[in-house]
Amino acid sequence: MTQSKQYLPSPDWQAQAHVKGMAGYQALVAEAEADHEAFWARLARELISWQTPFTKTLNDSDAPFYKWFEDGRLNVSYNCLDRNVERGLGDKVAIIFEADDGTVTQVSYSELLAKVAQLANALKARGVKKGDRVVIYMPMSVEGVVAMQACARIGATHSVVFGGFSAQSLRDRVQDAGAVMVITADEQQRGGKALPLKAIVDEALADNSCPSCKDVVVYKRTGGAIAWVAGRDLWLHELLAGQSTTCEPEWVEAEHPLFLLYTSGSTGKPKGVQHSTGGYLLHAALTTKWTFDLKPEDVFWCTADIGWVTGHTYIAYGPLALGGTEIVFEGVPTYPDAGRFWQMIEKHKVTIFYTAPTAIRALIKAAESNEAVHPKRYDLSSLRLLGSVGEPINPAAWEWYHANIGGGRCPIVDTFWQTETGGHMITPLPGATPLVPGSCTLPFPGISAAIVDETGNDVPNGQGGILVVKKPWPSMIRTIWGDSERFKKSYYPPELKGYYLAGDGAIRDAETGYFTITGRIDDVLNVSGHRMGTMEIESALVSCTELVAEAAVVGRPDDTTGEAICAFVVLKRPRPSGEEAKAIAKQLRDHVAKEIGPIAKPKDIRFGDNLPKTRSGKIMRRLLRAVAKGEAVTQDTSTLENPAILEQLGQAY
Ligand code: WT7
Repeated sequence: MTQSKQYLPSPDWQAQAHVKGMAGYQALVAEAEADHEAFWARLARELISWQTPFTKTLNDSDAPFYKWFEDGRLNVSYNCLDRNVERGLGDKVAIIFEADDGTVTQVSYSELLAKVAQLANALKARGVKKGDRVVIYMPMSVEGVVAMQACARIGATHSVVFGGFSAQSLRDRVQDAGAVMVITADEQQRGGKALPLKAIVDEALADNSCPSCKDVVVYKRTGGAIAWVAGRDLWLHELLAGQSTTCEPEWVEAEHPLFLLYTSGSTGKPKGVQHSTGGYLLHAALTTKWTFDLKPEDVFWCTADIGWVTGHTYIAYGPLALGGTEIVFEGVPTYPDAGRFWQMIEKHKVTIFYTAPTAIRALIKAAESNEAVHPKRYDLSSLRLLGSVGEPINPAAWEWYHANIGGGRCPIVDTFWQTETGGHMITPLPGATPLVPGSCTLPFPGISAAIVDETGNDVPNGQGGILVVKKPWPSMIRTIWGDSERFKKSYYPPELKGYYLAGDGAIRDAETGYFTITGRIDDVLNVSGHRMGTMEIESALVSCTELVAEAAVVGRPDDTTGEAICAFVVLKRPRPSGEEAKAIAKQLRDHVAKEIGPIAKPKDIRFGDNLPKTRSGKIMRRLLRAVAKGEAVTQDTSTLENPAILEQLGQAY
């Protein structure tokens, strides 16, 4: 790793940013090191309006079940909406919504507050109360953000499920959360096509599989034909009619669960990551302020979906908590063509743009093969800051992003974090940190990220190891919904001295101490910034019981998606080849799409008479990874039970 090339923040940036220069950064780091709790308490008082101020900052008596600001009371929706209206921002645009077809709708802070209050009243009228779980399965929309904020307003705990997940995945989540309601839309409009949502909810709830769920609220987005279950289904617009546009917020304890968000782990079914109210909101607001340097005049655009944590923290909560103006985009980056993002930046004069490396790499390819969608055709001069999230950004993509989108003048914040961390953990601060392409640089102030060995001892810089966070922080995961043992086992293994285990490997540069994430150390894949467990995909494959006897899934590097899913499959019938193999591979992909969602479809499927195993019956995953990459197998295969199958697995369908 060479870190010779550094991009320094310009004098302008250093002068105007919320955190000014490395001196500004170091002062904050020193403040947090001197008194961790006092640092977070100061910021919690500065950034959040408390209905009841907290007197105790951190309760660590039941570690790792940490509690922050425990005796304080607040409401997230009050902090994001009412407070801004009270500050005189009622007419300021909160959300600029651009639909798939390019239609633009602007919503001011007072309008957003009225919508949230109305839905909050409607939810209460349906009997939803503090602590109830509400599943949100919505398109990217103002209504999606309103649904999240309305839950927050009444103290209901939302669990947003990404609109690309299948009926089975949705059912699992509704059941696990014990949700009393699902809020959805008739259809979602993406890339010029109407895609079903309500029909998937119907399938998920069929056969009384989710008895906890009494109501399905449907936002009419496209007006497409849908089935209707009388007594269960309710139109959103009918529910809202006649509801008051004011609603007293429910003041909840700081530890009250704001949301659950399901994410993949190395084993079993997706886990419901539980976040708090006070600590989460603090980090959402603080990172939006320091990492994105959000200012009143900014137009902020995070391209993530509200179904992922990025869309929670940097669409539904962070920018609104600061009274910012943000874009919510319904569509996809390639429709009507791959210039869509650049065209929207030009049209809305976006100043801060936050997206994923996969999108950047796909758009580089598109721009290189089609001049018409090259960013140079657009006026991107409004941009002042760029961000990247979800997976490592390779230096070549970083340089292209910097030169072609940022015009060489915009810092790039490569933000490392996770569903579990609630917000940025390791990231540059744009007016402070010298940038090195491919490195997420240094920990956010107050975040004690470190690299250790298997016994929790620090490893020297220049040597790779396990990424941990040594001290608790306000926006950390509180538990796994319904499974506190799994929470402890997954994130606080006893051998790591009470440190939080991120699940990633990392290395710090010998000279600068900068972090580079080297990838997951567990059986979790990152495909286009989407997190998936290999075991989840394996279970989906073997659930195709008429065809599949055994399956193993590994990742391999992919130029665009970062990682690609490769499945090794043993069928219950003779190993297919040619057209038959292609047809079966398609059938298996469709099956996985049905079980999990299209994002989990394996890119390569390889068939063998059996899987490479040691004589003791262990699948040789390292060997499968080499085969998946198309590498010559150099490792010792003498322990392999049946070396001949390596040849069979050479062919991918
Ligand atoms: C995993 C978390 C963070 C919101 C979106 C993904 C990888 C995330 C980076 C980055 C290298 C990154 C890690 C992490 N990751 N950001 N800037 N550089 N890797 O959230 O689905 O919970 O996935 O994404 O592997 O553990 P998630």
